Amino acid sequence: MRDILVGVSGASGMPLAASLLQHLRSIPRVRTHCIVSAGAVGVLREECGVGPEYLTALADVSWQADDLGAGPSSGSWWRRESCPAAMLVVPCSMGTLGALASGATHNLVQRAADVALKEHLPLVLVTRESPLSAIHLRNMLTLREAGAVIMPFSPGFYLRPRSLDEMLSQTCGRIFDQIGLPHALGRWPDRKCDAL
Ligand SMILES: Cc1cc2nc3c(=O)[nH]c(=O)nc-3n(C[C@H](O)[C@H](O)[C@H](O)COP(=O)(O)O)c2cc1C
Repeated sequence: MRDILVGVSGASGMPLAASLLQHLRSIPRVRTHCIVSAGAVGVLREECGVGPEYLTALADVSWQADDLGAGPSSGSWWRRESCPAAMLVVPCSMGTLGALASGATHNLVQRAADVALKEHLPLVLVTRESPLSAIHLRNMLTLREAGAVIMPFSPGFYLRPRSLDEMLSQTCGRIFDQIGLPHALGRWPDRKCDAL
């Protein structure tokens, strides 16, 4: 069994977080954990008109973002299975990025990601902001150098998505590639459709 933590922070992109959790459910021997930050709760309401349970219901386990004593706050929790856990922060706000780059973490999304970094475990940050300031760019470089994968939400069109759902699914496939999760969500050059 592999634990995959999905940290949802307050950037735009809640439909991507939902799509990711849905696809994770179909992967065998994966246990999904979801942490929704207070910032994400506000964005979720704006973008989808729903509360955090919309996302937490898609996960096997949900954790409260203000519970800094929860399992994922501790390095030993991450290594309790033979295959250590991995974390995806989807979407990753510039606020959470900055907290991680400074090491001063304030909620469980940030603390868990900080633990992944210090334990040299897989951490993928699907950032969402545009344009990017010099501070954002420096924070990204700091975190890349510390071992995180920085993966701006940046869908490719070469797989010819026919819908938003398909575009989100293809992005999920690219995220799964980063942590070695099997999927059939499309890879160049195997397009799902040849004509639009
Ligand atoms: C509707 C909405 C959309 C937002 N989109 C973004 C975004 O795309 N990127 C970002 O960095 N912050 C965005 N913000 C601001 C963050 O939500 C805010 O900085 C928040 O404090 C981040 O909290 P967190 O990082 O603890 O989750 C948005 C806020 C709202 C209300």
